Amino acid sequence: VKIVRSVSELLLEGEVGLVPTMGALHAGHVALFDAARTENDVVVASLFVNPAQFGEQADLARYPRDEAHDFAVAERAGVDVLFAPPADEMYPAGFSTWVVPEETGAEGAARPGHFRGVATVCLKLFAVVRPARAYFGQKDAQQAIVVRRMARDLNLGVDVRVLPTVRDVDGLLSPAERERALGLPRALENAVGAADPVAAARAELNGLDPDYVELLDLDGATVLAAAVRVGPTRLIDNVVVKGALS
Ligand code: PAF
Repeated sequence: VKIVRSVSELLLEGEVGLVPTMGALHAGHVALFDAARTENDVVVASLFVNPAQFGEQADLARYPRDEAHDFAVAERAGVDVLFAPPADEMYPAGFSTWVVPEETGAEGAARPGHFRGVATVCLKLFAVVRPARAYFGQKDAQQAIVVRRMARDLNLGVDVRVLPTVRDVDGLLSPAERERALGLPRALENAVGAADPVAAARAELNGLDPDYVELLDLDGATVLAAAVRVGPTRLIDNVVVKGALS
């Protein structure tokens, strides 16, 4: 894998598949790299902990960073280029232009400014990498909806692909918290097929405190999404209750 730190060094040829990431690479990212590999000539992963999408500076500070681990995972997965810019390469002094999505659902309401940061950094990544396709995990369903909407609204010519969630152990949780956290995907899975999936999921959360439980429309597929807090960590997850993702 070739590591690139600056926009001017990003010289790419052929059809490019982009997997935007904030590092802490795990099996879910590898599934996205694999999909990008089969559909493109060149696979680029970005590795950038985007300060603009964090509300609390404390959350930004405690976000896991381990470049050596991320390089090794990308190398093993056959990523061609890892774009890992410093913050001032993406947000140089005087930066003042933002993308502000209007439809951001319950996740947007719970995290004011979050999707402004996500949409802006994704637009910048699309502008510098010029991918034919960009790959996102269904786990962040609301994010995928926002980015796909932006690509359409602004005629970016990027096919925003959304792939099923591959869950992995969350490194931020203690073993006891991890056990409690498993209650979230379980409650969502068990609610599929219920007459009122939101009520069914809420009833099964077993003491996990939800920020929200809601049904989302993801391009015709209906997704049951929820956010809960486990200790200091906020977790989101979702399942498809009707239709299929594309
Ligand atoms: O899902 C993420 O890791 C981030 O929100 C993304 C898409 C890389 C933008 O910073």
